[in-house]
Amino acid sequence: MSTTAINHPAAGDHVRIFDTTLRDGEQAPGFSMTPTQKVELAQLLAAMHVDVIEAGFAAASPGDAAAVTEIAREIEGPTLCSLSRASIGDIDAAAEALSPARRKRIHIFLATSPIHREAKLRMSRLEVLKAIETALSHAAECFDEVEFSAEDALRTEDDFLTEAMACAATHGADVLNVPDTVGVSEPGEIRRVFERLMREVERPEHVIFSAHCHNDLGLAVSNSLAAVQAGARQVECAINGIGERAGNCSLEELVMALNVRPDIFPAATRVDTTQLWPASQKLMRLTGAPVAPNKAIVGKNAFAHEAGIHQHGMIADRRTYEIMTPESVGAPGSELVLGKHSGKHALNQRLAQLGYQPDPERLNEVFREFKRLADDHGEVTDADLVSLMEGYSESGSAWQVMRTELRTTAGPRPKQFARVELSHPDRGRVSDIASGEGPVAAAFAAVQRITGRKADVIGLETKMLRSQTGREFVAEIEVDLEGQRVRGRARGPDVVTAAIDSLLFAFERQPAPHTPQQTAQPAVM
Ligand code: KIV
Ligand code: ZN
Repeated sequence: MSTTAINHPAAGDHVRIFDTTLRDGEQAPGFSMTPTQKVELAQLLAAMHVDVIEAGFAAASPGDAAAVTEIAREIEGPTLCSLSRASIGDIDAAAEALSPARRKRIHIFLATSPIHREAKLRMSRLEVLKAIETALSHAAECFDEVEFSAEDALRTEDDFLTEAMACAATHGADVLNVPDTVGVSEPGEIRRVFERLMREVERPEHVIFSAHCHNDLGLAVSNSLAAVQAGARQVECAINGIGERAGNCSLEELVMALNVRPDIFPAATRVDTTQLWPASQKLMRLTGAPVAPNKAIVGKNAFAHEAGIHQHGMIADRRTYEIMTPESVGAPGSELVLGKHSGKHALNQRLAQLGYQPDPERLNEVFREFKRLADDHGEVTDADLVSLMEGYSESGSAWQVMRTELRTTAGPRPKQFARVELSHPDRGRVSDIASGEGPVAAAFAAVQRITGRKADVIGLETKMLRSQTGREFVAEIEVDLEGQRVRGRARGPDVVTAAIDSLLFAFERQPAPHTPQQTAQPAVM
């Protein structure tokens, strides 16, 4: 048990931000990240000054444990945390995974509600209390901070929730977390629950309460704010609100609500709000899961003013329709255009807004490429910068698209065919023909026949860019290649060429496990 960070005199009465993007967020379908990607995101969370990063669930798998260790090794600043069941094995796995961390926290959870006790755990109330005592007593020896979560707290009997929390506090918990695991509560109820726990749970003075709200009814942020009003001094949340099912409390929405309305919320966070937009952008890129355009704080329309009457008001005084500035959350100002007259400082600033932190050497390299691009295209877009940073290019693959022909048959049930010709330094020119549901699908099928690679397309986005030399297209693809999710991005003179190139680039990023031509019988021209 700690009496330092949680109760440190310098800690004051601020609301601690416990980020669970890499644990509750990452465990949701479609949001998995590699250890390297997790470290990249954790770096942004550290730059944002979140108080705690829940880096994973060490006992869940060797991969999870390795990612927790990697983050613990690389990240300085926030306390680093691993989730753990109330079992000695889990606690020891968390201690080992977190061993390189400067400051370590364990987050032990055990369900307390009747439905979980009876249907899942098959434990009596007494057995649950005993398990809390055993687990927390063991953990108190190995960590700087101990957190206990009463899973499904909001559906737990009042008297038993108080008893379980008091038991955890007696046996070394520094933080008592009250999860609305199934997202069933509402602000009035959650406020009453926190007020009651604050009154009734006997605990050492430094112990704080924490909220962990799920968004099944779209109330996770409101519920977390109500908990803060009732005295909670930690909120568990995730970038873009990702998490199990409908997600967790959105970090950026919670932080900005506390920031914009200090008159009604009694405590502030230590978050550098200008890092919110970059972190959101980074997460979208890493997971391939975009937020809705109208998403609060980080959606692309969050600061757009289209209606004439609004634009008029904005020109007269931004405060007519703006309760916070885009700059305050690190969103790019609408006027910022990067071109050949832009300097390195402007480029670096824009890269930071996109979630990149290049070292000086890498920045110089990218700056040279940026100038070349600006000369060719005039304006350099965000998409171009992402391409530069990620190393995507038109020639990212050894294969080159030489020609595509698309055909649709006539009649009541038309079919689409594509003939694609590719060129390869070793294999020369190869072409094949295939059908598919739509011209791009047919082209992809032909490419798979030529290259012998099998790809399941998860998503494809195309965009037209205007350049000084005319129009060009950018395609961004996400594919499943032999069980691995891979993304590719490329430019091209038309949509189909850009799409084919993006697929070829994805192949390049994830080489085939066997030889490249296992099944295909392409026609050689
Ligand atoms: O939702 C939940 O109850 C959790 C716990 C592990 C805290 O994520
Ligand atoms: Zn949760």
